[in-house]
Amino acid sequence: MARDIKKLISEMTLEEKCSLLGGDDFWHTKAIERLGIPRYMMSDGPHGLRKQDDKADHLGINDSIKAVCFPAACATTSSFDRDLIYNMGDVIGKECQAENLSVVLGPAVCIKRSPLCGRNFEYMSEDPYLAGEMAAAYINGVQKHHIGTSIKHYAANNQESARMSVSAEVSERALREIYLAAFETAVKKSQPKTIMCSYNKINGVYSAENEWLLTKVPRGEWGYEGFIVTDWGAVNDRVKGVLAGLDLEMPGNTAENDRAVAEAVRAGIVPEEKVDECVERILKVFFDYDDNREEQVFDRAKDHEIAAKIEEDCAVLLKNEGLLPLDPAKKYLYVGEYAEKPRYQGGGSSHINSFKVDSALECSKASGRNVDYVKAFPMDKDALFEEDLEKLIACASEYDAVIVFAGLPDIIESEGYDRKDMQLPASQNRLIAELLKVQKNVVVVLSNGAPVELPWVEEVPAILEMYLGGEGVGQATDRILFGDVNPSGHLAETWPVKLSDNPSFLNFPGNNRRVNYKEDIFVGYRYYDMKEMPVRYAFGHGLSYTSFEISNLRCDKESFSDGETLKVSVDVKNTGSRAGKEVVQLYVSDRNGTIERPLKELKGFDKVELQPGETKTVEFEIDARALSYYAEDLGDWFAPSGEYALLVGNASDRITACGSVKFETKKMLPLHLDVDTTIGELMADLRTAPFVQQMMQSRMAEQNTGEGGISGDAEQDNAMASAMMQYMPLKSLISFGVMDKAQMEGLLQMLKNTVG
Ligand code: BGC
Repeated sequence: MARDIKKLISEMTLEEKCSLLGGDDFWHTKAIERLGIPRYMMSDGPHGLRKQDDKADHLGINDSIKAVCFPAACATTSSFDRDLIYNMGDVIGKECQAENLSVVLGPAVCIKRSPLCGRNFEYMSEDPYLAGEMAAAYINGVQKHHIGTSIKHYAANNQESARMSVSAEVSERALREIYLAAFETAVKKSQPKTIMCSYNKINGVYSAENEWLLTKVPRGEWGYEGFIVTDWGAVNDRVKGVLAGLDLEMPGNTAENDRAVAEAVRAGIVPEEKVDECVERILKVFFDYDDNREEQVFDRAKDHEIAAKIEEDCAVLLKNEGLLPLDPAKKYLYVGEYAEKPRYQGGGSSHINSFKVDSALECSKASGRNVDYVKAFPMDKDALFEEDLEKLIACASEYDAVIVFAGLPDIIESEGYDRKDMQLPASQNRLIAELLKVQKNVVVVLSNGAPVELPWVEEVPAILEMYLGGEGVGQATDRILFGDVNPSGHLAETWPVKLSDNPSFLNFPGNNRRVNYKEDIFVGYRYYDMKEMPVRYAFGHGLSYTSFEISNLRCDKESFSDGETLKVSVDVKNTGSRAGKEVVQLYVSDRNGTIERPLKELKGFDKVELQPGETKTVEFEIDARALSYYAEDLGDWFAPSGEYALLVGNASDRITACGSVKFETKKMLPLHLDVDTTIGELMADLRTAPFVQQMMQSRMAEQNTGEGGISGDAEQDNAMASAMMQYMPLKSLISFGVMDKAQMEGLLQMLKNTVG
């Protein structure tokens, strides 16, 4: 049914229109019965449904309906598999249709600036390219069913401490390259029906009132068509919000703000067309849902199996000296309560009332594995059961290996606050250390939403990171440990050796009012690479039970330019004896040295499945944007002409196929011409370089008699003179008597004409 939304709006009173810009209750929008507009329900998100009935809250404290908890984003992003996360979105979209939910509140793509952010488990990556690609795939999966998504929290919500008051002080370049880029990709590739703006301020302005953030960038530059909703309770001044481009305030209790908007329209502060536009954007999304209802059944048992399968592709094998996979014919001991009661999701608004949870212990027993179990430590606190520890130490050597299920207690990782450190509970570290004295074959299985320090890493032969793997995590753990599944996840974040290595360490979380993003664009591997700093596990790292070789990088052209694309291919071979999946990663590196840039940045990835001995070709396509940085002066993306390295590998620290390409651009950076412009700046600009070069050469020729130079060697003297001139401003030509003021004015005018 084609609806005439504009006509419908024309039939509304101003009060009715304004009422649609605020929620009715915690999860519903308002109805206008006389016009046949019902209430619409939204729900968290992102990795399953948290549909609440009467006792609603946004902190995940009160109950919600039984639903299926899929792996959290810390896990799903580690799959590096767009199809996998698209399929997860597809299933969640169907569940929403079955439960009459019009929008699911996710995905969450805030960049993992610090390992301490309490919600890192829900966020995707430290890398915006990866986060953007995975978010777009998820959104496309959900929205295929006419269910809206709400990509969040837009923007710079990289900590939970003071999230409602703090101002993220961050450069435009870092915003564009790091903190907005995943939202940009998602908008361009998947048009999320809604964007959820964050609580915090950015450079002093609340996100919910930031015209640049809500209108200029997404609608003006990216072509965003959906509506923008506040995070629950993120409005401070709704009139300012509407003027800035905010559409919907949630949750309910908004009557006063609705009235304020109507009054502002009457007072001529807010043009009525702005309100009409908000209403139109909102109704478009909800009507699309209403007009495309699907007959779906929420089959929890079936979706549970899907959740378990997804997790199989997410777990990351961090270390393996041959102990894994376990031999089903041998005898093993499981240790730690997580073996029996897994930690599989984080706390807060994404918390799901799981329909069923699989533990590794129960799944291993059901699969007929020969496993015993000692609890030894509880899942919810930092404590050891001393008797169990004694028992464990006494019997550990009788087993072929001991599998310790370590992890972070629920209370540590949640919405609303950050972690205080990067450590596992001390009792777990102590247990592992004690155990290693009597049994060398120790496997540590981790359940946590973000990196932890691993004090025993050198002595433990195998470490498997399950992250927060959703309610089917037990099944996936059992199948990976015993080799029914070959692990294929790779890290979507760097694991630093210790917390103080992290680039945000000195500026996290700031105080209640302000946090300075002093590391700027150097977040995650962009920083560790530059500092040549050893890390525990690099971004992109992940092992397999087989081995792969990535080689033979080639490009479809030697050079390309604005508006063209470049195809880069590599061959990937499974050189081991098991089938497996490899994550192939393409990084780009600017070799031109014109501005500080990360050593390399991820610009492509793919996951391929290979039988033993099989080779496949993986192809990437990149364009000028993949080579670009955000040039604040230009107000645009810019890639200087020159050479770029293309680096392909299976981790950011394991690059095995390299190549390079030349890029030509017609874009020019603006050149600010005044007496403080340096000779270096003029020489670096193609428009002014020839003239200045000529001027300097004739100047040097005048001075250079071949004798009496500093080094006595004319070539060296010239090199020294040019190096010194780099930073010499034009005004020094006056002080050194090369020209007078009038001549300088002439020179500047001439340069301005050349630049145009
Ligand atoms: C969270 C959002 C969530 C909303 C509704 C807020 O506190 O930050 O991510 O979608 O509550 O529960």
